[in-house]
Amino acid sequence: MSEKWQALRDHALSVARRPILSLFEDKGRAAAFSVDAGGARLDYSKTNIDEQAKAMLLTLAEVSGVAEKRAAMFGGEKINDTEGRAVLHTALRGGIEAKVMCDGVDVMPEIRKTKARMAIFAREVRTGKFTGQGGKITDVINIGIGGSDLGPAMVTLALAPYHDGPRVHYVSNVDGAHIADVVRGLNPETTLVIVASKTFTTIETMTNAETARAWMAEKVNNPAAQFAAVSTAADKTAAFGIDSARVFGFEDWVGGRYSVWGPIGLAVMLAVGPEAFEDFLAGGRAMDEHFLAAPFAQNMPVLLALVGIWHNQICGYASRAVLPYDQRLSRLPAYLQQLEMESNGKSVAMDGSDLPTHSGPVVWGEPGTNGQHAFYQLIHQGTRVVPCEFMVAKAGHEADLAHQHLLLVSNCLAQSEALMRGRSLNEARAIMEKKGAVGDELERQARHRVFPGNRPSTTLVYPKLTPFVLGQIIALYEHRVFVEGVILGLNSFDQWGVELGKELALALQPILEGGDASGKDGSTQALVDYLRG
Ligand code: F6P
Repeated sequence: MSEKWQALRDHALSVARRPILSLFEDKGRAAAFSVDAGGARLDYSKTNIDEQAKAMLLTLAEVSGVAEKRAAMFGGEKINDTEGRAVLHTALRGGIEAKVMCDGVDVMPEIRKTKARMAIFAREVRTGKFTGQGGKITDVINIGIGGSDLGPAMVTLALAPYHDGPRVHYVSNVDGAHIADVVRGLNPETTLVIVASKTFTTIETMTNAETARAWMAEKVNNPAAQFAAVSTAADKTAAFGIDSARVFGFEDWVGGRYSVWGPIGLAVMLAVGPEAFEDFLAGGRAMDEHFLAAPFAQNMPVLLALVGIWHNQICGYASRAVLPYDQRLSRLPAYLQQLEMESNGKSVAMDGSDLPTHSGPVVWGEPGTNGQHAFYQLIHQGTRVVPCEFMVAKAGHEADLAHQHLLLVSNCLAQSEALMRGRSLNEARAIMEKKGAVGDELERQARHRVFPGNRPSTTLVYPKLTPFVLGQIIALYEHRVFVEGVILGLNSFDQWGVELGKELALALQPILEGGDASGKDGSTQALVDYLRG
């Protein structure tokens, strides 16, 4: 444990009992502990981070080499060194003038070429120039999982007000219930299927793709003509029978969970059109520019990462809740679960040694206000502290429902206030006295109504959930994960932890079909017996 970490922990311990509310005796606190970027504001003043902690955290970022690693990432160096790959998803949202070198080659011309092909295809589908056997495409099914599903599915939902193309549906789970429920009611003659898989080997996706092809073949003479593919593996898409004219490739330096900006975003482009998709990329690019240029003390991704490090590795809070007060961001927590937990859920440092601190946190959440009527109870009164990350738009899209937006925002602000302020035993007693309670019963009832308070949160406020703003938000979180990963000293871009389960599942399939289970542990053997019985 380095001195920097220890000093931070010592400081955190020394201020642990200090009410966060007391920090607002400094009238400049809200401004000093907020950061603006591209029209959005991140307020992290409702945390126990004070000037000293902030300075120490900023030093931690500096000595951890965040600036150097950032330059290496944007510069196309192979920072994903356990897979020998560069990390260049940022190039996918690069501007027209950008030049990004990787292995001595400018990757931008190929990115632009593929994006132009995507736009042509999207326009053809949206205008009816490309048709299915039954005419204009009415529905698109994106078959993919993990990064080939969560990103486009989340973005599609988030951009609902911009949909003017075919309806887009997502199938990810190998559970046949998923595809069965999605295709029910769809007309195969006017449906386009996108098989989205970076590797084109993922068993769930390939199984669902076969099922979709069989479903389509019942009505369509040439189902392959209504399939498109998005992958890094052109040979495999050809083997599946998809015409290369409808195959959109990308390189292995785009990680699955960072891939929505490129061809994996095809379904989004079909729903909202190439122009809105371009705005989405521009939002991501704007956050890149901010991340690259702003000094750490005013750098939104860096500060959000430092708040994360403070809460998880310094204060020891093991999870964080992402609470968008925006119904259209209801898939964001699931998206961030993959982004954060697949990226920073590691226990080994870059050099192969054990991580000296905890890895990234457990990330979870639901949109407000729904969560308030479900799990907020624990966040307010449970024994564990869960740092909360609220987010809300200044304005909603529904101008005629502005009064509902006001209520939404009030709820968002009220929750962060309640978490920080709490309710003391004396306040609870006064409430019970008014209700007529007396004696021991007053005391007992009052105790149930105490809120410990002093529970930290951040609030991200953005103008409106436009494609541009959504791009900013996603890129903000991507860079936050990157900075946390650098500070933790791990590789945020591999995912070896998903492999063992995949291998064992493949081995179990023939066993469930009647094979020999004797090599399995007692529990697995007994479950196999029970399932086969
Ligand atoms: O198993 C994990 C994973 O590799 C993710 O990282 C990835 O997003 C997902 O599977 C899907 O992979 P693919 O796009 O290659 O089908």
